[in-house]
Amino acid sequence: MRPIMLNLPMPIVTPRLILRPPKIGEGAELNTATIESIAELRPWMPWAQTLPSNEQSEEYVRECCVNWILKTNSFIGLPMFIIDKKTKMIAGLVAYHNMVWDVPVLEIGYWMRTQFGNRGYMTEAVNALTRYSVLQLNAKRIEIRCEPTNIRSRKVPERLGYHLEAMLRTNHRNVRGEPSDVCVYVRHDLNGLPELEVRW
Ligand SMILES: CC(C)(COP(=O)(O)OP(=O)(O)OC[C@H]1O[C@@H](n2cnc3c(N)ncnc32)[C@H](O)[C@@H]1OP(=O)(O)O)[C@@H](O)C(=O)NCCC(=O)NCCS
Repeated sequence: MRPIMLNLPMPIVTPRLILRPPKIGEGAELNTATIESIAELRPWMPWAQTLPSNEQSEEYVRECCVNWILKTNSFIGLPMFIIDKKTKMIAGLVAYHNMVWDVPVLEIGYWMRTQFGNRGYMTEAVNALTRYSVLQLNAKRIEIRCEPTNIRSRKVPERLGYHLEAMLRTNHRNVRGEPSDVCVYVRHDLNGLPELEVRW
């Protein structure tokens, strides 16, 4: 089956969050969330080295919509907004990257809006997406990659019982352009994943 024919039912709903693809017109709110969070994003995210304009954020949202139709990896993968149920605000973003649909292998990437940090929201979102990957998409391998010094990021897969499969030496350039190692956390199933109520 060609990826365009894959069905990914959305939204994914957890006790505190809703995960769903961005919609045309949401660039302005995404821009506010990004600018608010830039100090936390800059050390890790190559795209956060300069402040995006409203127009650039809206372009990104529209590229997300295209990717969601095609189910393509192309550059940004398949991003989902994390919506805080209480305030309806964009609390962060999770995304599938480097999908190999015929296994399937999926990589999960993420960032949190600063004001929503330290509440366990990202751990909840990634727990939900891990369940969705296995139960809905039949994923055989789910990866989370991060730099060894990104301790807050590493704690997300560690809390969720992902296994540190490899430390890839000088496998990537960090935001300062220096060669950096990469941790590869992996799950192949839901064994031992902390309980969470999720529906989609
Ligand atoms: C990586 C990142 C998403 C982690 O965010 P985070 O807020 O630490 O993660 P969570 O939302 O899962 O929150 C976990 C924290 O909330 C705390 N917490 C508070 N209330 C909680 C609750 N009700 N349930 C669970 N945890 C709760 C946890 O104890 C934990 O804090 P601790 O690590 O000090 O113990 C965030 O730092 C970020 O966006 N960084 C920049 C971008 C980035 O690096 N992305 C990843 C690239 S690989």
